Amino acid sequence: MGKNKLRRFAEMKTQSCVFEPDKQLLLDDQFEMKGKWDSFFGNSNPITVELGCGKGEYTLALAKKYPGRNFVGVDVKGARIWRGSKTAEDESIPNVAFVRTKIEFINQIFAENEVSEIWLTFSDPQPKDKKGTKRLSGWAFLKRYGKLMKPESIINIKTDSQFFYDSTLETIEKGEHTLIRSKDDIYGIHWEDFHPDDQEILSVKTFYEKKWLAIGKKIKFLQFKLNDEYYKAV
Ligand SMILES: C[S@@+](CC[C@H](N)C(=O)[O-])C[C@H]1O[C@@H](n2cnc3c(N)ncnc32)[C@H](O)[C@@H]1O
Repeated sequence: MGKNKLRRFAEMKTQSCVFEPDKQLLLDDQFEMKGKWDSFFGNSNPITVELGCGKGEYTLALAKKYPGRNFVGVDVKGARIWRGSKTAEDESIPNVAFVRTKIEFINQIFAENEVSEIWLTFSDPQPKDKKGTKRLSGWAFLKRYGKLMKPESIINIKTDSQFFYDSTLETIEKGEHTLIRSKDDIYGIHWEDFHPDDQEILSVKTFYEKKWLAIGKKIKFLQFKLNDEYYKAV
């Protein structure tokens, strides 16, 4: 591992907004923040979680726009999280945290009803995942999300992938979830359909998004609510 990476990993350990729970602790369901995120943030404001947050562009932008809410970015890659957590520390953004872990452990990170909104930003499409157990918008992950989300919470998805977009729409239909919006070219023909507040948020461009835009890909957006049955899931 390069010296820079080592230095950043060491720095992350000193950042109060970063949690790196070890695997055994999660397997034992003993993560100290589960059910106690209010105490970390010092308030009981609603929590939005960005899954596969990478460098945390959405977590940070949303936190700045909505100081009355709290935001947690989750990703397994330490070097990417470091970028987001460094900005949160440098700019003293109080309503942000990051958790370095596998999203598979999400129910060991948040308790039932602890989360009010989820964002999936440019998730890996997983086209070979025929069973839908690996895709972050597949039925298996939706069940996990249902267990930690308050009823009526919204899931937002931004993606470049036609496959991810189509397969998520299929999952929404099959699972009888409530589709709020599906736009397959947000910066093109659909831009004027969005409220200016939504345009401001959708204008945030992540590291991967910039890469896809540079090669001419169209960016898609989905919003939906889980079927009531999913809140009792797992
Ligand atoms: C294509 S990147 C997108 C990153 C960022 N959201 C962006 O738009 O630039 C997908 C991210 O999801 C993370 N990821 C994928 N599967 C994961 C999993 N099972 N658990 C935790 N992180 C995961 C990867 O580490 C990576 O940072």
